[in-house]
Amino acid sequence: MNKLIVSLLLTLGITGVAHAAGDATAGQTKAAVCGACHGPDGNSPAPNFPKLAGQGEKYLTKQMHDIKDGKRTVLEMTGLLTNLSDQDLADIAAYYASQAGSVGAADPKLVARGEQLFRGGNLDKGLPACTGCHSPDGSGNAAAGFPHLGGQHAQYIAKQLTDFRKEDAGRANDGDAMTMRTIARKMSDEDIAAVASYIQGLHK
Ligand code: HEC
Ligand code: HEC
Repeated sequence: MNKLIVSLLLTLGITGVAHAAGDATAGQTKAAVCGACHGPDGNSPAPNFPKLAGQGEKYLTKQMHDIKDGKRTVLEMTGLLTNLSDQDLADIAAYYASQAGSVGAADPKLVARGEQLFRGGNLDKGLPACTGCHSPDGSGNAAAGFPHLGGQHAQYIAKQLTDFRKEDAGRANDGDAMTMRTIARKMSDEDIAAVASYIQGLHK
């Protein structure tokens, strides 16, 4: 490689860390091993493995870095991200973001309560509506890094909300997770079950 390119790459490496652009085509190859749990196109068939298809790039990248750095504990993924570079993670995020997410169904018995919480929150408890950050159709806010929730497995969503509530679970990290930790602490088990079921059936 000639000297000019090397120095250019070094400069990019130092000044361009904030956001490496992902290449979805390269990401598909790099994500091959992830398909075993998350599904080949990111639509995981198992309710405890999150769907990644259609998820925002910024959110995906942040979660992969958190998992890689041990800030978010995912035992099933132990060692899987260790040898992946920032560029690899950016490419994988671009790949999943480019895929269409599938949608499940909500439990008819829980829909009313779930919808009420998602759209209106709970004034008495100071619980904000989820729509403010995750959007009315559950598609989130990709630029802000607020995750897409619509169609996600209810079991996975319920586990995340329960984990956010705890001090010693996988998602007790600071930063953006603090927002959700504060919110989840205002939710009962019944609230969580209802809103998780509602989210599973939510779509555009
Ligand atoms: C053995 C199963 C397994 C494999 C293989 C696996 N994952 Fe995961 N992954 C999980 C589980 C389980 C979770 C959620 C854990 C939890 O409940 O917080 C997860 C969570 C994630 C999340 C966070 C999703 C969200 O909505 O917050 C991302 C991103 C992710 N995995 C990316 C990957 C990538 C990239 C690979 C391949 C390099 C991979 N995973 C391989 C099981 C797996
Ligand atoms: C003020 C903005 C805000 C509000 C309001 C909000 N969220 Fe979030 N939510 C976030 C952010 C930011 C994250 C990502 C946290 C992280 O990086 O770990 C998140 C993450 C989540 C996740 C994890 C998604 C995944 O793929 O793992 C779930 C589930 C969730 N929120 C549900 C809810 C529900 C249900 C409500 C309403 C009761 C709600 N949120 C209200 C900002 C918000």
